[in-house]
Amino acid sequence: MPQILARPAAVAVFDAYGTLFDVHSAVARHAERVGPEAARLSEIWRSKQLEYSWVLSLTRRYEPFWTLTERALDFAFAAVPSAARATRGDLLAAYRTLSAYPEVAGVLSALRARGIPTAILSNGDPGMLGAAVDSAGLGPHLDAVLSVDAAGIFKTDPATYDLVGARFGTVPAEVIFVSSNRWDVAGAAAYGFSCVWVNRTERPDEYPGTEPFAVLPDLRALA
Ligand code: LAC
Repeated sequence: MPQILARPAAVAVFDAYGTLFDVHSAVARHAERVGPEAARLSEIWRSKQLEYSWVLSLTRRYEPFWTLTERALDFAFAAVPSAARATRGDLLAAYRTLSAYPEVAGVLSALRARGIPTAILSNGDPGMLGAAVDSAGLGPHLDAVLSVDAAGIFKTDPATYDLVGARFGTVPAEVIFVSSNRWDVAGAAAYGFSCVWVNRTERPDEYPGTEPFAVLPDLRALA
């Protein structure tokens, strides 16, 4: 029996971007047109999108994640002058229909077949999450798609993790929280969730004191 299934779970909650959806698949789809620094553009796009979410939250302000996504792409284009700005519209459209990692649907469906409800808890606003879930065909495999928009603040504020208990009536320790973002695991572990870190790219560990109980290379061992 895989380690993960040995733990009692009332619900399995997944981060969306980077965990279920490949955030770099948007630029990858248009890489040739973007130019030789496409991968760098994508990295800056992602890191600025996250930085904006943290600074807004620390200053007690909130704007939808889609607005931050657009703003971060504009910063990335400014920082990478070789990248073709003519691709802006296509990159944003692609971000609304990101590719899900290949194992995602099977794992969600297997968890539900075992009686474990599944959910997303994401910084994404409801519009962009709905579009991504629909385009990847994940809707039938999810019991809930929770957006921090309902809390008006971004992860890692505890009010965002509260949304899980509000929806499922769970206490934190019975929630399995799965994220590829180590900072998100840090926030969720500090909150009291049982965390799984999906380390797809063999990144070094960080955030001591907020260890996940399992580290997986992808989601397959959850099924
Ligand atoms: C999410 C982003 C931050 O919450 O990965 O889905």
